[in-house]
Amino acid sequence: MFDAIATKYDFLNHLLSAGIDRRWRRRAIRSLALTGRERVLDLCTGTGDLAIAARTARPAAARVVGVDFAAAMLRVARDKLWRRRLADTVTLVRGDATRIPAAGASVDAVTIAFGIRNVENINAACDEISRVLKRGGRLAVLEFSIPTMPGVRGAYLWYFNHLLPRIGRLVSRHDAAYGYLPASVGAFASPGEFVKILRQSGFIDVSAIPLTMGIVFLYTARRG
Ligand SMILES: C[S@@+](CC[C@H](N)C(=O)[O-])C[C@H]1O[C@@H](n2cnc3c(N)ncnc32)[C@H](O)[C@@H]1O
Repeated sequence: MFDAIATKYDFLNHLLSAGIDRRWRRRAIRSLALTGRERVLDLCTGTGDLAIAARTARPAAARVVGVDFAAAMLRVARDKLWRRRLADTVTLVRGDATRIPAAGASVDAVTIAFGIRNVENINAACDEISRVLKRGGRLAVLEFSIPTMPGVRGAYLWYFNHLLPRIGRLVSRHDAAYGYLPASVGAFASPGEFVKILRQSGFIDVSAIPLTMGIVFLYTARRG
């Protein structure tokens, strides 16, 4: 599905979030408290926006590796890296988040934006992240949620379940992809449940921080 929408993905991301997605990514990278020396792994990197944000932040990660299993998404990411002259410090690897192609305790930080809910076995992915992170290494995960605030919740659900899939279908010309988005968010763990999963995988200092009225949560944690 992601291969089929790859060329329209960035445009729709910025359109459907009114550009706020860039702010969410910058916030996630800030939570890593980078010093300029880190090796960062961006899982489910897709078209690479979070990997790019890690490499262009100030201070930036020294090296970033982006992993995704959708070849067409990685092709879009590769073009962007070349255009921005980042291809020598951001490496893209085709791989699975539940079998991360990296040695144990080899990375300083792991990031995932809007990818974890798509992973079939979330527990396996969290165990793998814990394996590849150095002790004390940081994790930042961005994921959609359904706001709970009365008023906001109703308006958001209408936008998310009705308007967004229509715009998505019109622009991407893919029937299912933007109907899948609200369905997958509804099926994903609640913030409390995801915090529990992270703790079970050996993470400490786990927080779930609501962004933009709880439309998105930033989960931060450290490898214990
Ligand atoms: C919604 S996109 C997010 C892309 C990007 N991180 C962003 O912020 O825009 C989700 C991505 O997760 C990838 N993905 C889903 N399950 C995966 C898995 N098990 N291993 C690797 N990539 C996966 C998909 O191929 C897709 O590119």
